[in-house]
Amino acid sequence: MVEHYRRGPYSISTDPALLDPAAVHRYLTTSYWAQGIPLELVERSLRGSLCFGLYGSEGQVGLARVITDETTFAYLCDVYVLPEHQGRGLGRWLMECVMGSPRLQGLRRWMLVTRDAHGLYQHLGFGPPANPAGIMEIVQPGLYLRRDSA
Ligand SMILES: CC(C)(COP(=O)(O)OP(=O)(O)OC[C@H]1O[C@@H](n2cnc3c(N)ncnc32)[C@H](O)[C@@H]1OP(=O)(O)O)[C@@H](O)C(=O)NCCC(=O)NCCS
Repeated sequence: MVEHYRRGPYSISTDPALLDPAAVHRYLTTSYWAQGIPLELVERSLRGSLCFGLYGSEGQVGLARVITDETTFAYLCDVYVLPEHQGRGLGRWLMECVMGSPRLQGLRRWMLVTRDAHGLYQHLGFGPPANPAGIMEIVQPGLYLRRDSA
């Protein structure tokens, strides 16, 4: 089931065929969290996720990528709106579409990691982990900047 939403000149869609991996890669490779990520990995990550693309008249201008079983858990990542489209409520709208998606209701846990965009997510019920000591991770910052990475 593909979802489409429209607001003025902008639209949001979960149709994988509309995604523009090259445009997503152009943004992500300069982002603080996925700097240097190769295009092939962006393509693979898009194929394996539930993606909400944000589109303007010139093409794809934003994304929210959800890694999920659509039943119990969702991890939200690669959320961005291109700088020239920021500050117009598009990030908020994108997140409302994600959280309201019929495919993502009744999950036991949502997770995300952010450096400074807490304000965007707090409105939707996200908060610091109730039990931080119970959360474990393996994380490799700068993975894509190492010359031997695939
Ligand atoms: C975060 C981002 C997606 C928000 O998109 P946007 O279209 O500019 O956001 P909106 O205009 O809908 O604003 C939504 C709310 O988020 C807040 N917000 C936006 N960017 C923020 C940031 N970097 N830090 C803190 N709050 C932020 C706004 O103040 C606003 O809150 P308000 O309605 O209470 O004033 C966009 O700024 C972006 O792409 N930033 C760079 C990438 C990034 O940091 N992504 C998040 C990774 S977790």
